[in-house]
Amino acid sequence: MSVDLATTFCGIALEHPVINASGTFDAIAARRAFGEALVQSFPFSAFVSKTITPEPRAGNPPPRLWETPAGMINSIGLPNKGLAGFLEHDLPQLAELPVPLVVSVMATSAEEFSQLVSGVTERDEVAAVELNVSCPNVHSGLIVGEQPVETARLLEALRPLTAKPLIVKLTPNVAEPAAVAVAAEGAGADAVSLINTLKASAVDPATLEPSLGAGRGGLSGPAIRAVALEQVRVVSDAVAIPVVGMGGVTSGVDALDFIAAGASLVAVGTENFRDPAAGTRVLSELCERLAAARPSPADLNLNLRYR
Ligand SMILES: Cc1cc2nc3c(=O)[nH]c(=O)nc-3n(C[C@H](O)[C@H](O)[C@H](O)COP(=O)(O)O)c2cc1C
Repeated sequence: MSVDLATTFCGIALEHPVINASGTFDAIAARRAFGEALVQSFPFSAFVSKTITPEPRAGNPPPRLWETPAGMINSIGLPNKGLAGFLEHDLPQLAELPVPLVVSVMATSAEEFSQLVSGVTERDEVAAVELNVSCPNVHSGLIVGEQPVETARLLEALRPLTAKPLIVKLTPNVAEPAAVAVAAEGAGADAVSLINTLKASAVDPATLEPSLGAGRGGLSGPAIRAVALEQVRVVSDAVAIPVVGMGGVTSGVDALDFIAAGASLVAVGTENFRDPAAGTRVLSELCERLAAARPSPADLNLNLRYR
């Protein structure tokens, strides 16, 4: 049985609710490897870029990845070409993908965030912006996404700059993610996405030194799924704007769990490294689950929880 999963997210028509998590699927490299086959059967209904910053960044010293039971810790450190490099080199290639493009941006002040949001949203190829707020504000020293007030101030500065959807990517490293989500919504965010990685460390057994070059990193993968599901549920209960759920999604069963918890879209992250076709597989498994679900698929509205 086929199930029509077409949906609308912040006014953007999407073929289905499975997208990628920022930084976990390099569409440009994948196109080099898989050629036109990638474009013809793209695994996601929208593509979220890895986070870009105003200036180029080299990223953190190696090692940058450490495997854990049921997950991994990364301390990649957002290496990227900066805004100008992204617009010149990456955007034209990402614009050839057959799905709407969401550009993820991060900065350390409202002024720099404004430069990024203006710079990317004036391009027709960009459908929406995801604000990665897991970063300190140089003026206050506080991590923006850990503070409802800082998050609201940032949104108030950015909202007038564009009519395109602004998605706030929430950090899980807070006691009350719903308070940050409510602040984002109140200041004009169109959607929230969660969760980003959980703060994590590992020790190299050979040296008893930190395993990662940066000393610490962020945990992702199935290890964080139950935490993510809880935060998606709490945030979905607190806001009326759509929620993008992610954290350890490896299958259609996981995706349906996030939808049942209130997510309108589900993002696949770490699983893409294990299985580059994970997005396609998660979608087909989700369709199978929905075809077997009661109430019947026709009664399901993916923008409404149905539990
Ligand atoms: C290697 C790696 C790189 C990531 N890069 C970014 C990034 O550039 N921007 C961002 O907002 N999140 C980034 N993330 C976080 C993911 O988008 C996602 O929020 C998190 O990994 C949880 O989902 P998962 O468990 O399915 O991976 C990265 C995660 C990993 C594992």
